[in-house]
Amino acid sequence: MPTPLNISQALEELTAALGPNAVFAEADVPLRNRNDYSGLLPTQPLAMLRPADTKGVSDALRICHAHGLSVVPQGGLTGLVGGARAEAHEIALSLERLVGIEEIDSDAATLTAWAGTPLETVQQAALDAGYFCPLDLGARGSCAIGGNLSTNAGGNRVIRYGMAREMVLGLEVVLADGTVITSLNKMIKNNAGFDLKHLFIGSEGTLGIITRVVLKLFPKPGSTMVAMCAAPDYATVLKLLSSARASLGPLLSAFEVMWPDYWQFATTQAPGVRNPFAGDDTAYAAYVLIEAQGTDPEADAPRFEQWLGGLLEDGTLPNAAVAQSLSGEKAFWGVRDACGELHQFWPRHLAFDIGLPVTRMDEYARRFKQQLGDLVPGCKSVFYGHIGDSNVHIVTHLDGVAEQPKDAVEQIVYGLVREYGGTVSAEHGIGTIKRRWLGHARSPEQIALMQTLKAALDPKNILNPGKVI
Ligand code: LAC
Ligand code: ZN
Repeated sequence: MPTPLNISQALEELTAALGPNAVFAEADVPLRNRNDYSGLLPTQPLAMLRPADTKGVSDALRICHAHGLSVVPQGGLTGLVGGARAEAHEIALSLERLVGIEEIDSDAATLTAWAGTPLETVQQAALDAGYFCPLDLGARGSCAIGGNLSTNAGGNRVIRYGMAREMVLGLEVVLADGTVITSLNKMIKNNAGFDLKHLFIGSEGTLGIITRVVLKLFPKPGSTMVAMCAAPDYATVLKLLSSARASLGPLLSAFEVMWPDYWQFATTQAPGVRNPFAGDDTAYAAYVLIEAQGTDPEADAPRFEQWLGGLLEDGTLPNAAVAQSLSGEKAFWGVRDACGELHQFWPRHLAFDIGLPVTRMDEYARRFKQQLGDLVPGCKSVFYGHIGDSNVHIVTHLDGVAEQPKDAVEQIVYGLVREYGGTVSAEHGIGTIKRRWLGHARSPEQIALMQTLKAALDPKNILNPGKVI
């Protein structure tokens, strides 16, 4: 634990090194830097630092390292697992001043950005340059690209483009002692030794702080098709996934499934959501949003409609609708994005992002609901997610209690995850909230190797301590 003496000495050195308006001590730490989106209670960090550039991040870490002060990197603070939450004896380091697009290289098809740049700014800059940045998630307006990479974000288009990790060509990272590792590589192929960037992507700020990123850009889609489909049973969902993969090939860019519990919430309670199947009050077993993106506006849409029409005609699908305009596409996505409204109706709900074999998801959901009903009577749950990526989200809520039954629900969620050979986090990361469950998805040998890497890169354990491992 730091003593008051080394704290005040460190703050003096930090103020001298980082310049004006870069060091906020205890009571002055802004409200937003006291929490993330995990639903945990706010904290009172020792200080908040907002360096202006890579050298500032390096100076900050060098000084904190010398004084043995723990540092918690912060981006857009939209993480759901407590990974960016600084405890009372820790220092928050915000990347909020490292913003902007440094370069778009049209020949290499790359974009270089500062870590604090909001994802939406990156997406727009790519579009403005005639390219496409496929990384996309609900928090796009507030999350930062550095945070997206430090958590290896997933999101809506993983089925086609992969996780955030697969879109990265280069990184600049500051190590725990302030050493700067600049590798703003733009080459697709670079097998010169260890590919170190992958140590920092997905390690949630425990091994280094990302300051700049080089992203791969993709061709801007020339056509987008979005459909909403109703499935009478889960076997049909699996058949639809196989059919979409076979018929749409590389055009398939999203395959999002909503169970009836989620659909009911989204179409009857969430504000501003339109039911694409209004008038059809059949209770379907699942609803599937399918998106495809192509390059030929003339040919792609008719081909997509023909494929879906075939599935309606042969009786595979009882109902399906294809969006006929941009606003129609947005309305379909609005049903899927309505999960962002759940917190209004279910305050302090519990949220999960588990991975499961795609064939077992519905069976998992049924067994989960049965166990939940037995062990936590009255607890509600909804299921939805990126089924094509083996990733399902569960949100639970028990009305009228001061504290949600976290332990009991987690035991059920993760007990079944272990039984099915799934993962405790498909995309949100471990942070502090899931640390207890890491052993349900990783072997003791894997965790020991993570600890070896952590000890080698951060022997004083000052970088986001207590997160992940
Ligand atoms: C989603 C977030 C919760 O998929 O990961 O909506
Ligand atoms: Zn998700």
